[in-house]
Order: sequence, then C-alpha cells, then structure tokens
Amino acid sequence: MGPSGLVCALLLAACCCCRRAAGVPGEAEPPTPEPLEVEVGGTALLKCGPSHSPGNFSHVDWFSVHKEKPTLIFRVRKGQGQSEPGEYQHRLSLLDRGTTLALAHVTPHDERIFLCQGKRPQSQEHRIQLRVYKAPEEPTIQINPLGISVNSEEPEEVATCVGRNGYPVPQVIWYKNGRPLKEEKKRVHIQSSQIVESSGLYTLQSVLKAQLVKEDKDAQFYCELNYRLPSGNHMKESREVVVPVFYPAEKVWLEVEPVGVLKEGDRVEIRCLADGNPPPHFTISKQNPSTQEMEEKATEDNGVLVLESARKEHSGLYQCQGLDLETMASLPSEQQELLVNYVSDVRVSPAAPESREGGSLALTCEAESNRALEFQWLREKTGQVLEKGPVLRLHNLQRDAGGGYRCVASVPGVPGLNRTQLVRVAIFGSPWMTSKERKMWVKENTVLNLSCEASGHPRPSISWSVDGTAHEQDQDPQSVLSVLNVLVTPELLETGAECVASNFLGRNTTTIFLELVRLTTDSNRTTGPSTSTVGPYTRANSTSTEKKLPEPESKGVAIVAVTVCVLVLAVLGAVLYFFYKKGKLPCGRSGKQEITLPPSRKSEFVVEVKSDKLPEEMGLLQGSTGDKRAPGDQGEKYIDLRH
Ligand SMILES: *[C@@H]1O[C@H](CO)[C@@H](O)[C@H](O)[C@H]1NC(C)=O
Ligand SMILES: *[C@@H]1O[C@H](CO)[C@@H](O)[C@H](O)[C@H]1NC(C)=O
Ligand SMILES: *[C@@H]1O[C@H](CO)[C@@H](O)[C@H](O)[C@H]1NC(C)=O
Ligand SMILES: *[C@@H]1O[C@H](CO)[C@@H](O)[C@H](O)[C@H]1NC(C)=O
Ligand SMILES: *[C@@H]1O[C@H](CO)[C@@H](O)[C@H](O)[C@H]1NC(C)=O
Ligand SMILES: *[C@@H]1O[C@H](CO)[C@@H](O)[C@H](O)[C@H]1NC(C)=O
Repeated sequence: MGPSGLVCALLLAACCCCRRAAGVPGEAEPPTPEPLEVEVGGTALLKCGPSHSPGNFSHVDWFSVHKEKPTLIFRVRKGQGQSEPGEYQHRLSLLDRGTTLALAHVTPHDERIFLCQGKRPQSQEHRIQLRVYKAPEEPTIQINPLGISVNSEEPEEVATCVGRNGYPVPQVIWYKNGRPLKEEKKRVHIQSSQIVESSGLYTLQSVLKAQLVKEDKDAQFYCELNYRLPSGNHMKESREVVVPVFYPAEKVWLEVEPVGVLKEGDRVEIRCLADGNPPPHFTISKQNPSTQEMEEKATEDNGVLVLESARKEHSGLYQCQGLDLETMASLPSEQQELLVNYVSDVRVSPAAPESREGGSLALTCEAESNRALEFQWLREKTGQVLEKGPVLRLHNLQRDAGGGYRCVASVPGVPGLNRTQLVRVAIFGSPWMTSKERKMWVKENTVLNLSCEASGHPRPSISWSVDGTAHEQDQDPQSVLSVLNVLVTPELLETGAECVASNFLGRNTTTIFLELVRLTTDSNRTTGPSTSTVGPYTRANSTSTEKKLPEPESKGVAIVAVTVCVLVLAVLGAVLYFFYKKGKLPCGRSGKQEITLPPSRKSEFVVEVKSDKLPEEMGLLQGSTGDKRAPGDQGEKYIDLRH
C-alpha cells in the first residue's frame, strides 16, 4: 500500500466516524473498520472504540470476522476477561482497565477484521482491520549461466531474483547499470510470481528477460525489492551481476610479443585476437617467400604461435583468420610483417694465423646481417679492446702476443645482438719452460708425479732424463704439459729429473731436484734455529746441479745413529767435525746431531737458516704432487752451509 493508500484508509476511517456520529440506526451495512498496522511477530493492541470515547467496557464481547462470519474469541464480564476456546485462546490478554485487547505473536493469518460489541450491540459495535507486514529477506540473484546471444530473436533470461518471506508480496524493480528497466515489447520482459509459505509469508521470484546487445557485455544487473512496514516504505537490493553476452567478431587482428625490435634467439609470441565472444577459431598463416602463398602454421593454443627461439627464417608476413563456429563466417586480419634481426656466424681470416717473432699479421673479420654491423677486436686474455673495425693489424709480434683474439660482430640498433669468433695467433719460437728449476720434498720408495710444462710454436714435445711413465696433455695450441710418474730411488735422488722440451727451433730444459723428507724425533732438544736441523741433505746452493745426496737409511737406524753421534760428538768435538766435513762418518749423514761446538768453531762453521727462502720452498713443496710431509717435521727448513 502506497502513501495514497494510507491517505485513503484515513479518509475511510474519518468517514466511518462521521457516519457513527450521524448514528444511522437500523442500517444493515457494517461501518468501515478502523485500520491497525502491525509487524509479524509483534503485538496488536485492539481498542474497542476511539481512545477518547467514554464508555462502559466492563461488559464486552470480542469477535474475529472471517469471510463475513463473526466468531466469538473473548468476553469481558465485570471487567474480567476470558478467552474462548479456539485459535486465539492463548494469545489474547486484556490491558488498560479492559479498554484494550492485546493480540500477541501476530502472523499473516491474523490479517482480518476484529469486532467488539458492548452491552447495547447497535451503538457500541467497533470494527478494526488488522494489517500485517513483514520485510522480505535480502534478495538473491542468479544469472543465466548459459549466457545470452545477441542474435536471439526473443528476450532471453538474464537473471532471476528471489525475495523470501515477506508480507505482503514485495514489489520488484530490475536495474541495468543503475537505471530501472521497464517492460518493453520484444525487448524487456519481467515475469514475477510468488508462493505462499506455510507461515503465510510470501516468497517472490522475478525473472528478467531481455534482448541484449554487444555493449551489454559488461552491464551490471541487479534487482530491488520494495516493501512496506508500519514505519514506512523500505527497499532491499541484490548484488550486481554481469551476464555472459555472446556476439560475433567484427574484427580480427594480430599481436606480436615482445613489442619492438626482435633478434635471433628471442622468444616470440604471435597472437590472434578478435572482438567477438566467444573468440572465433583461429588459424595463423605465413607467407612463403618463394611462392608468395600464405601457408597455415600449426599452433598449440587457439590463435597463439610461439617461437621459442626466433630465427631469421621466421621473418615474413603473418596473418590471422577467425572462423565463427556459429555462423561459419571467416574473418581475416590484416597481414603483419615480422622481422627477426640476425648476425651470421663470424669468419676470421686467416683461420690459424702464425708469425715469426718480430713479424706482422692482419686479421680480417666477416659476418652478414640484415642490418649494418660493427666489428670489434678484443684480446681474449684481458678482454681489452684492441681495434674497432673488421681488420686487426698486429706489428712486431713478440712471444707474448701469441694467444686468443676475439672478433665481435654486433648490430648497434639491436641491443644484445652479436656473434663472436675466437682465433689463436701463434708466434714461432723455441720452447719456453713454464717453471724454472725447483725442488721437491719426497719420501723414498714412493711413487710420485713430476710435472713439466713448456710452450712454443710449433708446440714442443717433452722428454725426461729419467725413466718413468710420462703423460702429455696439450694445454693450448702452443703449450704442452708432461706428467712423469716415477718411483723415488737413490739414483733419482742423486740426479734429479731433467725435463727437455724441444721443437725445430730449439730446446730448453728444467730440472726438478728431489730431497728426502727427514723425520725428526728429538726436536725438543734443539736449542734454537741456528743450531737445529743441521743435516746432510742440503746442497751448496739452489741452482747448482751438483749436490750431495743422502744415503738412504731407515728411521730406526737414524735414531740410534743420532744418539751415538751426539755422544761421540760431545767427546770428540772438533775432530768429528773435521771428519764430518770430509764425509767419512756415515752416522753423520743418517741423522741429526746436536752441534755443541765452541763459539769459535761455530763461526767458522756457518749454519744459516735461510728463512727468507722458506716461503718460496714451501710453495714449491705444496705445488708438488708426490710430497707428503709429516706434520711438525722440520725438513722444510732449508739450511745453507757456506764455508
Ligand atoms: C457498567 O455496567 C455494569 C453492568 O452493565 C454496571 O454494573 C456498572 O456499574 C457500570 N459501570 C459504570 C461505571 O457505569
Ligand atoms: C652480446 O650479446 C650478449 C647477449 O647475447 C650481451 O650480453 C653482450 O653485452 C653483447 N655484447 C656486445 C658487445 O654487444
Ligand atoms: C727457456 O725457457 C725460459 C723460460 O722458462 C726462457 O726464459 C729461456 O729464454 C728459454 N731458453 C731458450 C734457450 O729458449
Ligand atoms: C699421478 O698422476 C696420475 C695421472 O696423471 C694419477 O692417477 C696419480 O694418482 C698421480 N699420483 C700421485 C702420487 O699424485
Ligand atoms: C717436546 O716439547 C713439547 C713441549 O715443548 C712436549 O709437549 C713434547 O712432549 C716434547 N716431545 C718430546 C718427544 O720430548
Ligand atoms: C751457486 O754456486 C755457483 C758456483 O758453485 C755460483 O756461481 C752461484 O752464484 C751460486 N748461487 C747461489 C744462489 O748461491
């Protein structure tokens, strides 16, 4: 009931009053009832006549009128109320000194006329029209999941709106993009229906049917329920929904990802797009450069061609074709040019450049590209740029000019597009040894590896002065490494191992000296570095090829010998020293001895720990493969005896 309805009801009520005031006796027509509005679940206060009217309510009968038939529901006698058996038996009570009958827990079924009658029926009858209201629940909305085709001839179901448990039936209004929709012939059709629940409440269902156009693909639809309560008019809105709209494509086009310049090796995606929903079935074709025909390309996804690593052959004209599966209409895109920039393999001439020392070389670099190329020459070892341009000229070549040179061909306009070629320059020269003479600390009867590296052009070959198994490895075109696997014998300790490298331009040698590792047990008895570790296994100087090599003795013998020697030395002092110098006492070579010479003698017998040479020696020791020193061994202390 709208506001106009309410005004009308009030007018009617006023009319009724007038009539009663006029008091037409004997009139059969019942007076117009007084309206009373209550919410479901609330309490209706039924007053037997206008509140100001004087009257005697101590004797009243109350009736409910259903289908024009009054049923006694309550009686008041001497101010005391009593319910009649029936549907109202437990919900009625008397208030305000008997002037008001309260009806609790109002339901939709209570929407009827109530009538009260005093002692004199004609004058004291009063009718009340009870009106019941209930707000519906929040409306729910459901789209048509199948969607709507714009080609449909008739309005099709867009969505269904449901508002549950309202009273009376609420009104529904449909909205599209915030604007109310009106019935329109052949375009908008709203079908509403309601069902009565057992509670007497209504559940409303409203179906919106409409003819949609392509522009409605993003349209927001919702429904609104309007209803009345005693407090006034109210409304509730559903959420907004978008319904799938199907429309044929009008345009097909092609996109390439990434955008911008492409180069070989890039991952490229060619994608077909169309403005239809659903998208049409796509085919991608590429022009065959020799026949000019468009040839279809196989794709995994509909309308997506992925070039995992683009090549220059992928350049060319591409086109998409969209096939509408409903209408079977085919729609082509415009042709689009794809350009994959490339640089060919880089060639350097001469491929294996060589020169004598002091000579010159010109290295020329070549490559092809669809774009202008830039060339650069770099030194492989250092990365230093030597030349910007395709030709590198090298003059007065020395040995150290040998090695790798790299030509880089790049396209300035395409970042990251470049190819390179490495070329090795060889300078003719006799062998050079990578390491000079050196010394290794070894144990007897062990097998060890001696290594020797030499460079030169042509690449030298290596031979050894001692027997053993040698393995050669080519390090690079100008150098070779030879590893000799030998058993440490007294002879080897005596001579050392000489490595000889030779090519037709000459030969070069280096020697590896072997020194026995001494295992000391009496180190605590030493008094200081100047007198300790004096042993026979030293040589006069590090570059001499002549040296005194120790005789092999076992460790046990060495210990005994040391003890004996210490005693003998203590007694014989200088004499022993004399003999020792002459090398005639074997004990002197087999172990270590305390030197307890008088200071005068000591000065003559200079014992010097060459601590400055220590790190160098240690470095050599660590570098050698066959050498395993006992921890704490003082054999590493190198002693030079000068006389
Ligand atoms: C009301 O009516 C009853 C009986 O009809 C009577 O007994 C009572 O006195 C009256 N009361 C008044 C206030 O007139
Ligand atoms: C060559 O290309 C690589 C990537 O392919 C890039 O990292 C490098 O910077 C490029 N070099 C030049 C000189 O353009
Ligand atoms: C032998 O090699 C060394 C470098 O280890 C070099 O300095 C020397 O000149 C070379 N000798 C000859 C004769 O080539
Ligand atoms: C010597 O070298 C060979 C191979 O070159 C290797 O198998 C062997 O283990 C090495 N021996 C030592 C003692 O390092
Ligand atoms: C050498 O001296 C250290 C302490 O300086 C001691 O711990 C060690 O036992 C001694 N070794 C021998 C063999 O006397
Ligand atoms: C080694 O001895 C030789 C002669 O025996 C001498 O010419 C050379 O200078 C000495 N070298 C050192 C490093 O003492």
